[in-house]
Amino acid sequence: MKKREQWGTRTGFILAAIGSAIGLGNIWRFPYVAYDNGGGAFFIPYLLAMLTAGIPFMILEFGTGHKIRESAPHIFARLSPRWEWVGWWQILVSFVISIYYVAIVGWSISYFFLAFNQGWGLDTGDFFFKSYLQLSDSPMEFVGIRWPIFVSIAAAWGICWFVLFKGVKKGIETASKFFMPLLFVMILIITFRAVTLEGSLEGLNWMFKPDFSALLNFKVWVAAYGQIFFSLSIGFAIMLTYSSYLPEDSDISNNAFITAFANSGFSILCGVLVFSVLGNMAMNQGVGVDKVVTSGVGLAFVTIPKAINSLPSPVLFGTLFFLALIFAGLSSMVSICEVSVASLMEKFNIGRKKAVTIYCLVGLVSGAIFATHSGLLVLDIVDRFINNFGVLAAGLVEIIFLSWVCKLDIIQDHINKTSDFSIGFWWIFCLKFITPVVLGYISIVNIIGSIKTPYGGYPMASLICFGWVLVITIVVLSFLFQAGSLKKNKKEFIEIKRGGKP
Ligand code: ALA
Repeated sequence: MKKREQWGTRTGFILAAIGSAIGLGNIWRFPYVAYDNGGGAFFIPYLLAMLTAGIPFMILEFGTGHKIRESAPHIFARLSPRWEWVGWWQILVSFVISIYYVAIVGWSISYFFLAFNQGWGLDTGDFFFKSYLQLSDSPMEFVGIRWPIFVSIAAAWGICWFVLFKGVKKGIETASKFFMPLLFVMILIITFRAVTLEGSLEGLNWMFKPDFSALLNFKVWVAAYGQIFFSLSIGFAIMLTYSSYLPEDSDISNNAFITAFANSGFSILCGVLVFSVLGNMAMNQGVGVDKVVTSGVGLAFVTIPKAINSLPSPVLFGTLFFLALIFAGLSSMVSICEVSVASLMEKFNIGRKKAVTIYCLVGLVSGAIFATHSGLLVLDIVDRFINNFGVLAAGLVEIIFLSWVCKLDIIQDHINKTSDFSIGFWWIFCLKFITPVVLGYISIVNIIGSIKTPYGGYPMASLICFGWVLVITIVVLSFLFQAGSLKKNKKEFIEIKRGGKP
């Protein structure tokens, strides 16, 4: 059997895991979620979510991936042949995320070049929606491909292809060692500049001022757990795959703590950056920070460029900001793609180079929809459905399977054998009870919410096509992939029971 690829160093693995965790979610999602859910008081549910769900789940994924050392579908199949579909579900979810995530990296590449002369002009909203995206009125109105955007997206795929093509150690590890330290330095420089702007303190006050009454609101707790899951990249097979490349003698629990705390520290830094800039902007416009606050695409491509226009050194600030967005996005994207690449290699018994090339080409072609005139609208719907009914739902099924159907103490023993410190009651209790209850609750609320109120005011046909049909197709395909290998899995499973691997 071919020898499994491995990380060269522990630092390499940790940087790759942190690179996966730190992404667009930290830069444009976290600051707004914190501000909108109790400000400073949000850190209480956020920290609790990290300790009761995020870190235990990450230790579980690290431990399971490290013990079984295969791609996600095979990991599930080895534990129980009839559960392989969960792995495929996560792979397909990751595939869809990768094709729209890359679109955002593509826009960031365009904006990086625009930052040299603030090519976005004075009316940044008008530029982004009307001139750059040339957005149509409805998700179904594709009009055609916007070639400049397609070229940027292709460039992002090109970089991703190059990193993955080189393999785990020479590609992903080397890229992470380059991307992550540079990303930290860039964000530190911009944050330092941002906090010295006039009005920044007022902005920070808006973000960190605690509203403890918010803790009585269930929505705040749901937001904290949702943010932790997306941000830590758990529940979409990434950490299972990354840990499968660890050498035998590796510390599991410590690695999970380091990854989670680095991710949260980075999120808080981004919060300081974003709200300092917003504070300055609000002061210049003579309005409250609540009038300028945004998140997501609006924050990155409309509000921040507008703020950059009025800064003393716009070129430096602009190029650094968009380069940071590109690095953060690429390192997460590489991890999302690696999940599928590893599975393609195992399922079809092909080499890495072939698998990576096929994956990136299929991704580029199928992601062309996000380069059309309705790309942003389609992206918004797909992102919403895939997060609610892909990442979170697949995470829920995974946790139920691993903690209730499988024997959690076998994985616990494995983790304790290789880690610096042992995990015990706290870990089991969080995985068996807290995480499934919270995820289950969030999933039910999401389903009821989506049925009651059609998302974003989009036409029903678009929500059905890019939302419901997509998530249902993914589940059906997962079962079909499993059906193809069920017989073989059963045979291997019996061999495992007789004392073979794992
Ligand atoms: N964890 C990645 C992010 O936050 C996917 O963007």
